[in-house]
Amino acid sequence: MIRERAYPVDPWHIRETRLDLDLLAQSESVFALSNGHIGIRGNLEEGEPHGLPGTYLNSFYELRPLPYAEAGYGFPESGQTMINVTNAKLMRLLVDDEPLDVRYGDLRSHERVLDLRAGTLERTAEWVSPSGQAIRIRTVRLVSFTQRAVVAFLYEVEPLHASARLILQSELVANEQLPPMSKDPRVAAVLDHPLQAEEMLEQRTGGLLVHRTKASDLRMAAAMEHLVEAPGRHAVTTEGHPDWLRTTVACKLEPGQRLRVVKLAAYGWSSNRSLPAVRDQVGAALASARLDGWDGLVEAQREYLDQFWDHSDVKVEGDPEVQQAVRFGLFHTLQAGARAEQRPIGSKGLTGPGYDGHTFWDAETFVLPALTYTQPSAAADVLRWRHSTLDLARERAQTLGLQGAAFPWRTIRGQECSAYWPAGTAGFHIGADIADAVRRYVQATGDLDFEREIGLELLVETARLWRSLGHHDRHGRFHIDGVTGPDEYTAVVDDNVYTNLMAQQNMFAAADACQRHPEVARRLGVDEEESASWRDAAASVHIPYDRELGVHQQSEGFTRLQEWDFENTPPEAYPLLLNYPYFDLYRKQVIKQADLVMAMYVRGDAFTPEEKARNFAYYEARTVRDSSLSACIQAVLAAEVGHLELAHDYLGEAALMDLHDLHRNARDGVHVASLAGSWIALVAGLGGMRDFNGQLSFAPRLPSRINRLDFSLLWHGKRLRVDVTPEEVTYSLRNGGGAARLELVHHGKEIEVTQVKPVTVPIPEAPPIGAAPRQPAGRAPVRRVGAGG
Ligand code: BGC
Repeated sequence: MIRERAYPVDPWHIRETRLDLDLLAQSESVFALSNGHIGIRGNLEEGEPHGLPGTYLNSFYELRPLPYAEAGYGFPESGQTMINVTNAKLMRLLVDDEPLDVRYGDLRSHERVLDLRAGTLERTAEWVSPSGQAIRIRTVRLVSFTQRAVVAFLYEVEPLHASARLILQSELVANEQLPPMSKDPRVAAVLDHPLQAEEMLEQRTGGLLVHRTKASDLRMAAAMEHLVEAPGRHAVTTEGHPDWLRTTVACKLEPGQRLRVVKLAAYGWSSNRSLPAVRDQVGAALASARLDGWDGLVEAQREYLDQFWDHSDVKVEGDPEVQQAVRFGLFHTLQAGARAEQRPIGSKGLTGPGYDGHTFWDAETFVLPALTYTQPSAAADVLRWRHSTLDLARERAQTLGLQGAAFPWRTIRGQECSAYWPAGTAGFHIGADIADAVRRYVQATGDLDFEREIGLELLVETARLWRSLGHHDRHGRFHIDGVTGPDEYTAVVDDNVYTNLMAQQNMFAAADACQRHPEVARRLGVDEEESASWRDAAASVHIPYDRELGVHQQSEGFTRLQEWDFENTPPEAYPLLLNYPYFDLYRKQVIKQADLVMAMYVRGDAFTPEEKARNFAYYEARTVRDSSLSACIQAVLAAEVGHLELAHDYLGEAALMDLHDLHRNARDGVHVASLAGSWIALVAGLGGMRDFNGQLSFAPRLPSRINRLDFSLLWHGKRLRVDVTPEEVTYSLRNGGGAARLELVHHGKEIEVTQVKPVTVPIPEAPPIGAAPRQPAGRAPVRRVGAGG
């Protein structure tokens, strides 16, 4: 596990000052670079030692059979696994016949720095070979945000004390051997040799490899080219093999002289295009990279990020560790989505093989809120991708005997890939989560073209699903039975409050949108009767409540289940899913992740403040946070019910999930939902931002140690800045043109902000709060107050 403070606190950098070989896999995830299209793990250039080599292309996967001991009707037959594609990171160095390998000789100094403003990973090291030759290397790499097919590397090496013969071998390697995986179900399947060679082309300074997958029938190409600067005589040659290509640079340097090699690489893939077409595509990408050269790519990367930070940065004063972690989180959120361009965002982005590279509700519910308000076009693209999978979702609904569209719980290309029904297809709420993301995006941007062309059909088909999945009882109440809500330790239940409230919103939103776009609605076959039936079902959704305890039931009957014996559950038994049978988890009051608490955030308009406070205390005592998706949402509700210090603790947990490897599986990739969730914890938690029914509202309050919170949101193209201190808040507007104005609600009071006139308003005194809620024994979050930093 990464120890606290493995990376020194620094507002804009993640710095590693010594190489811990036991933590290589974790740091490879932390230092992964991606633009949403290509992802490369932070492997050392020389390839070895490594934790987990990894290079990924969004949606490039292989099929594999899903084995069942006992198959059942409607079980998906085949799964999709994101594969490790051709590796362009490899640059091996030979120093006077000895390979640079940090396990041998003496690594006198080592530093790696992820620069969040430059968008680069830089490594500097001094190494003395076993025979005593000292060298200094400096490498810098980037995955371009501006040229989405391009990855670039700079490699500089110089001898320190004596002349040295240096041979740099820069490679493209397909079908790398991967270490075996553990039995943890959250890890990925390892496929042996998933790529079949189709073409190899070698030129003097680079070349290209084309491969194809066997079952999924996808084709990919990777190409590379080198720009070499060396004093004096040097030789450059390239040789190839169907699965690898190697450019070798040989030279002899005196101390003070330097070899500098820029490696440009390009990737492309397609399920349709011919071999020549894919080959030409990467050739063109490489030509375009060459046009900019190393300096141009570096400059464009910084400009792209300057713009991103200008409208997305969140400043947190008083807790520098959280400040760093939140920026790290935003950076990875951007990396996951920036150039995904109508492809999904996986739960690990493109930083590791965890969960087979699948996308879940993590994308729509955790990542898209942050992207919608900072990088809205990326949010729209994810929803366009969902829209492109509608036929598959309709087919799935049909197989299940339902109407409308049943979106997969986990997938890469749209087919359901979960082999476990209770934590798979039964998580029907994914449909409402997608609908909610559509609602949020349209509301935040006013993009009615998107609503007409993409959003409406998603709303309609998901509303149809709910209408056919649920039923009216003899009293007219609408029930949705046999589903799994967010809490995967309580499965296949009736009337999960989260699911029901989200379905309610989904059905109302669909009916409203049909009214706005009657023609498109007609084309989708929606008539008055159908939309009336959605409104009718939505209005009579049943919400289970325990009168005796005065709390909502997460699902029907939940509060009468047996309590979990937390006192006798040892710390090493977490996550419980790895140590107890689901049978036991399902029949007791133990909650994996925010579920009713999640409902109180996303459908906060359906609860009174008193209900929120009582429910929060009740569910807090039963929630173990075995999912990384929990802490950020608990932060939001803790803040809303007045427990600001607890909100701060949960914010810290969400933001530090990977920098501190809190779930001990950062090796498989970063937890994108939690990292994006730290934005939610700050903006919706401490900032109290909500967007119910088209109304933007805030209720900021700061915990004792945070003395300033400053964030911005894009709302209909205007940039709203919210600058919070303990006593007051200043709202200001930018980019909206001189006449721009925005009405918003501050702690229940309407105010108007114009571009010419920022508004400063006091924060009202906080209402009294009850006793601090308790967590299950041993599961309290790490306290931020007194935590140093
Ligand atoms: C959580 C899900 C989540 C998935 C992928 C599971 O552990 O329970 O809510 O979607 O991980 O992150």
